[in-house]
Amino acid sequence: MHISQLAKGIAPSPTLAIDAKFKEMQASGIPVIGFGTGEPDFNTPANIITAAVNAMNSGATKYTPASGTVALKTAVCEKLKRDNNIEYSPAQIVVSNGAKHSLTNIFMAICDPGDEVIVPAPYWVSYPEMVKLAGGKTVLLPTTEADGFKFKPSELENYITPKTRAIILNSPSNPTGMLYNRAELEEIAKIAVKHGIYVISDEVYEKLVYEGEHISIASLGDEIRELTILVNGASKTYAMTGWRIGYTASNKALAAAMGNLQSHATSNPNSIAQAASVEAFAGDQSIIGTMMTEYRKRRDYMVEKINSIPGVSCIQPNGAFYVMMNVTELLGKTLYGKVINTAEELCEDILEKALVALVSSEGFGIDGYARLSYATSMENIIAGLDRIEKYVKGECK
Ligand SMILES: Cc1ncc(COP(=O)(O)O)c(C=O)c1O
Repeated sequence: MHISQLAKGIAPSPTLAIDAKFKEMQASGIPVIGFGTGEPDFNTPANIITAAVNAMNSGATKYTPASGTVALKTAVCEKLKRDNNIEYSPAQIVVSNGAKHSLTNIFMAICDPGDEVIVPAPYWVSYPEMVKLAGGKTVLLPTTEADGFKFKPSELENYITPKTRAIILNSPSNPTGMLYNRAELEEIAKIAVKHGIYVISDEVYEKLVYEGEHISIASLGDEIRELTILVNGASKTYAMTGWRIGYTASNKALAAAMGNLQSHATSNPNSIAQAASVEAFAGDQSIIGTMMTEYRKRRDYMVEKINSIPGVSCIQPNGAFYVMMNVTELLGKTLYGKVINTAEELCEDILEKALVALVSSEGFGIDGYARLSYATSMENIIAGLDRIEKYVKGECK
C-alpha cells in the first residue's frame, strides 16, 4: 500500500498519543491518573450551549462563507479591540476549525519550499510538523530553564537568514507556561520589523495569566501589526475544545490567501459552532474568572508539591495550565532494578508502576522534563503527585 513521503515524514502527536493510552487504560478499568491532556476540565458554559441550540432551531445549519460568518468575524474584531487594543476589520479575520487549523493555514500561506520558520524550544508539539507539511524548515531557537524558558530578543537575530519567513511566539506558552513582558515584546517587534519577517503570535492561552499581563505584540505599533499573524480561538478560554473554532487576524492580503486555501480544503467551520462562538466572544465572560480561581489553586499546589519531592523540581509558570517538571536528577539512575536514561523511559515507567500519565519532553524539543497539565481536578492532582512521590522514593511495587 502506497503512503506518500510527506505523510510518512510526519510524527504522530505525542500529547494525543499519551491521552489515547490513558483513555485506553481507563476504559479497561485501570485506575490511572492523567496529567497529559491540554483540555479544560470544565463544561462549556450554558449560555454558549443555548446559543448553539437557538442557532439550530433558527436554521443556521447551512454553508456559511468559507472563512466564517460576518457575525463571528465582527465579534472577533470587537474582542480584539476590547481585550487586546488592536483595530481589525472583518476582512482581516479568517475563522477555521480550531487554532490548529488556523496555524496550518498560516504555514501553507507563507512558506515556499525551504523557507525557514524560527521556533523557540520547548515548543508546542505541532509547530514543526505543520511547518514540514507546508514544505518549510524549522529552525530551533533553544531556551533554558535558567532563563525561564524564554529566548533573549538579542539572540533572535543570530537565527535570521534570507530564507526566514517567520518566528513563532507562544505567550503564555504550552508547554512551559512562560510569558513575555512588554519590553521583551517591543524588542522582538523591532527585530521583526527590521528584517520584514512575520510574527506568528499564538495567543490561545491569553486569558490564563496568573502573574504579569498578556500583551498582544500586534498592539505595539502599525508596522508590527502588519507583520503579526495573531492566532486565537474558543477552545481554551471557553472550554470549547470539541467545538473546533479558531481564528487568525492578519493583513488583508494574507487573510485572503488563507481564506482561499481554506475554501478548497474544508469550506466553512461548523455553522452551529460559529454561532455559539459569537456568544462566547461577546457574551458573559464569567467562566474565565471561575476557571482562573481554580487553576491558580491547582498550580500553586502542584508547584509546591513537585519542589518538595526529592529528585524532581520545577519553576513557577505564570500562565496556561502546564508545569514542566525537571527530571534530570533521576536520569542515569537505577530505579526498580533498571537504569532510566531518558525522560521518555521515565514517563513510561511512571505510567506502568505508578499509574500516572505524564508527557515526556522530547516531543517539545527539550530533554530531561515531563509536562504535567493541571487541567484536571484537585483530587487527581493530589493523588497523582502522591503517586509520583512514591515512585521516586522507590515505594511502588
Ligand atoms: C499552543 C497551542 N496552540 C494551538 C492549540 C490548538 O487549539 P485548538 O485547535 O483546540 O483551537 C493548542 C492546543 O493544545 C495549543 O496548546
